[in-house]
Amino acid sequence: MARVRLSGRGRRRADSGHPWIFADDVVATEAEPGDVVAVNGPDERLLGWGLDPKGACRVLAGDADLVPGLVIDHYAGVFVLQSGTPGADRLIPTFVDALVELCGEPRAIVDRSDASVRRLEGLEKRVEVLRGAVPEQLDVLEDGLVYEVDVLHGHKTGHYLDQRFNRRRAAELSRGRAMLDAFCYDGLFAVRAALAGATQVLCLDQSEPALERARRNAQRNGVADKLAFERVDVMRDLRTRADLDGRFGVVVIDPPAFARNKAELEGAERGYRELNLRALKLVEPGGQLVSASCSHAMKAEHFVAVIAQAAHLSGRAVYLEELLGASPDHSALLVLPESSYLKCVFLRVE
Ligand SMILES: C[S@@+](CC[C@H](N)C(=O)[O-])C[C@H]1O[C@@H](n2cnc3c(N)ncnc32)[C@H](O)[C@@H]1O
Repeated sequence: MARVRLSGRGRRRADSGHPWIFADDVVATEAEPGDVVAVNGPDERLLGWGLDPKGACRVLAGDADLVPGLVIDHYAGVFVLQSGTPGADRLIPTFVDALVELCGEPRAIVDRSDASVRRLEGLEKRVEVLRGAVPEQLDVLEDGLVYEVDVLHGHKTGHYLDQRFNRRRAAELSRGRAMLDAFCYDGLFAVRAALAGATQVLCLDQSEPALERARRNAQRNGVADKLAFERVDVMRDLRTRADLDGRFGVVVIDPPAFARNKAELEGAERGYRELNLRALKLVEPGGQLVSASCSHAMKAEHFVAVIAQAAHLSGRAVYLEELLGASPDHSALLVLPESSYLKCVFLRVE
């Protein structure tokens, strides 16, 4: 866990029960925005735990953190709890009390228990603000980037927190190159890449609310002139158009899960093969394909094997450079392989 060391004045303030830590009370920190941090006094004695209030992170990763069915995410002082089981429903009041006790009264605590998996347990969907109030526009700061999160209506708990580190890696690779961000959601592969020096980015998604947020994210980060947006069905669009072939130095494909269980694996394999084959055609020689799958039923080696079939069909030499997963706050419990659900494969395409 990341740590923060306070000055004597900071320790006295914390000991008095004040829930805030001021910047000039911090003597040393290894924390990133959004980290849950151990807060130590000047003598390194543990005083408690805190959160960087403007960032975002996963606080509790359900079964992988040994609390079956309950996820908690944090966005700039707003905690979002998501329960998928009757047992986790019962735990919500306990976790709300624990969050308030550990972190002080937050801006808001939201119960976003509306995932479709609840149907399997015979549970109703529920979206409720349990404490405080959600600001009309909730902004998260993430090392030099600002983005909006819609914790009441956005996908998952409002945002794809699991792709944070993969977006940074893709951005590094896109300096001086054009990027395609397919299945872009609120455009953060694109905005990050543009900030890192990508020349232009085409963003594709079928969700209008997500694209609207993506446009606002581009504007607020000062890169709107580099980004273009199209509302399309990516699967159909890429199959039928040829004007994009060979045009991109970096192509990102981050579709929704094609296989939600083992029974759907065969169809998913066909879908991933076709999508990756089409994506490979869009990459300029020497460029990169960044290909993600969040299907927990499809293991990493299986996903790479499917991309290898697409590479063979494409007739191009494709090299596996990196195989990354979800951001490290998404615990991956070894005896629970399903918790390693996100695969993000970085490939060089000659
Ligand atoms: C896994 S999310 C992408 C997350 C995003 N790359 C990020 O880093 O936040 C999948 C996205 O695909 C979009 N989507 C699903 N099916 C689609 C389709 N057939 N065509 C276009 N977009 C689609 C959803 O609206 C969603 O935004």
